[in-house]
Amino acid sequence: MSDRLKSKKIIVTAAGQGIGRATAIAFHNEGANVTATDINDKTLADLNNEYPGIKINKLDSTDQKSILEFAKNLDRVDVLFNAVGFVHHGTILDCEETDWDFSSVVNVKSMYFMCKAILPLMIKQNSGSIVNVSSCASSLKGFPNRFVYGTTKGAVIGLTKSIAADFVKKNIRCNSIAPGTVFSPSWQDRVNQSPDPVQAKKDFIARQPMGRLGTAEEIAAIAIYLASDESTFTTGTTFSVDGGISI
Ligand SMILES: NC(=O)c1ccc[n+]([C@@H]2O[C@H](COP(=O)([O-])OP(=O)(O)OC[C@H]3O[C@@H](n4cnc5c(N)ncnc54)[C@H](O)[C@@H]3O)[C@@H](O)[C@H]2O)c1
Repeated sequence: MSDRLKSKKIIVTAAGQGIGRATAIAFHNEGANVTATDINDKTLADLNNEYPGIKINKLDSTDQKSILEFAKNLDRVDVLFNAVGFVHHGTILDCEETDWDFSSVVNVKSMYFMCKAILPLMIKQNSGSIVNVSSCASSLKGFPNRFVYGTTKGAVIGLTKSIAADFVKKNIRCNSIAPGTVFSPSWQDRVNQSPDPVQAKKDFIARQPMGRLGTAEEIAAIAIYLASDESTFTTGTTFSVDGGISI
């Protein structure tokens, strides 16, 4: 590993597992000063046991009061990596108002809260990079049974572009990543909870043109680039890292 993120102060949300965890570790390995946040303090503690150099802070990304309290104690944030997300399975006919509201809050409002809380510090610094995790299931492509997930992940792309446009003159960049299907604990849960887990796993893999799932580390690799000064001319974009699913 090199020092591509040496001394950068980075906040990662949903860092307890999956893409958020892999990205927090990748940032740490590139020399960053990482604060890993998640709603789950047990997985955060496991991360900190394995990587004592990664600071941890339990934080619910949907709780604005706690986020503002957390942000008050920060002196500098070079990078905000927003990874919180939840997959609701079903069409519009399966999506009750409570499902709509829950997914909207977890997938979009969380990013609104985090960006709004951290941006004033970035404006003061006259620098910053925000990276939001969207999905290939979004405005990029429609997938069966991903109605509210795709809707909210499309909103993440809109939120990203809007922030990029508003703060481009302040030297603050905002980009998003649109992963394909990536092996993670919640993906495994979705497989296990399906009526036929063996077939469900085969179907997930079959829809990936490369014939395999992505790894969280493959998503972290593009996150390093977007967090680093190698991408200083890049803002408002969405990077598909999806094994060709959106071709
Ligand atoms: N895994 C995939 O196939 C895939 C594909 C495309 C996009 N994504 C997106 O990547 C992101 C990470 O997904 P994953 O599958 O790698 O991880 P995951 O779903 O397994 O883990 C999500 C993490 O988010 C945390 N979390 C949930 N609600 C929270 C809240 N309110 N505040 C703080 N933390 C909270 C959980 O505790 C957990 O640690 C999500 O935004 C997801 O939509 C995942």
